[in-house]
Amino acid sequence: MKNTIIAPSVLAADFANLQRDIEMVNNSEADWFHIDIMDGVFVPNISFGMPVLAAINKHAKKTLDVHLMIVDPDRYIKTFKELGADILTVHYEACTHLHRTVQAIKAEGMKAGVALNPHTPVSVLEDIIQDLDLVLIMSVNPGFGGQSFIENTYDKVRKLKALIDAKGTNVMIEIDGGVNNKNAKALVDAGVDALVAGNFVFSASDPIATIADLKEITSK
Ligand code: DX5
Ligand code: ZN
Repeated sequence: MKNTIIAPSVLAADFANLQRDIEMVNNSEADWFHIDIMDGVFVPNISFGMPVLAAINKHAKKTLDVHLMIVDPDRYIKTFKELGADILTVHYEACTHLHRTVQAIKAEGMKAGVALNPHTPVSVLEDIIQDLDLVLIMSVNPGFGGQSFIENTYDKVRKLKALIDAKGTNVMIEIDGGVNNKNAKALVDAGVDALVAGNFVFSASDPIATIADLKEITSK
């Protein structure tokens, strides 16, 4: 039996009831909190920053999976460690010296992830894959929740899985954007280890049951 990681994206939570929504995730079968940090420069949206992450960290009892959609992420690696990040993912497209950035994340004791935009081929990771803990494939263009899933993602997952296997390394594959109960199982069958779900979880009438359902259909 597989244990697919389910990571609800806090971006889709009700910020006026953030503690309630965090407790919901704590009490669910979810594995991680997915935290989207957007700077309005790398992506055309601003989400939330340090004070909100500090508030999340105060109540969250699960792994904090932080997805940085910001330019020049090196400036904030230490800060995100202090704010409780367990996994820190930067965008390939935002890093000129990606190898240095990845080493700096690991030196702080966090797991290092690299995210790829929908247009970025997985082959760009060929010479860094062995240094990574996680690759996040964006299945929508980053910046907003609630967008539709890009079908080419399956193909990218298969290519990434082949690259990981060819290098004989152990890297998790995470998918972010438009995940729901219709595409979750096929994604896992293609090689995905972790699924981010924002709107599908938080807009559901019963988010706890929705998380349990995602966990069940992906664990067969
Ligand atoms: C998009 C973010 C996602 C977003 C996913 O830029 O990286 O994590 O919250 O939301 P849904 O699941 O609603 O597409
Ligand atoms: Zn994200």
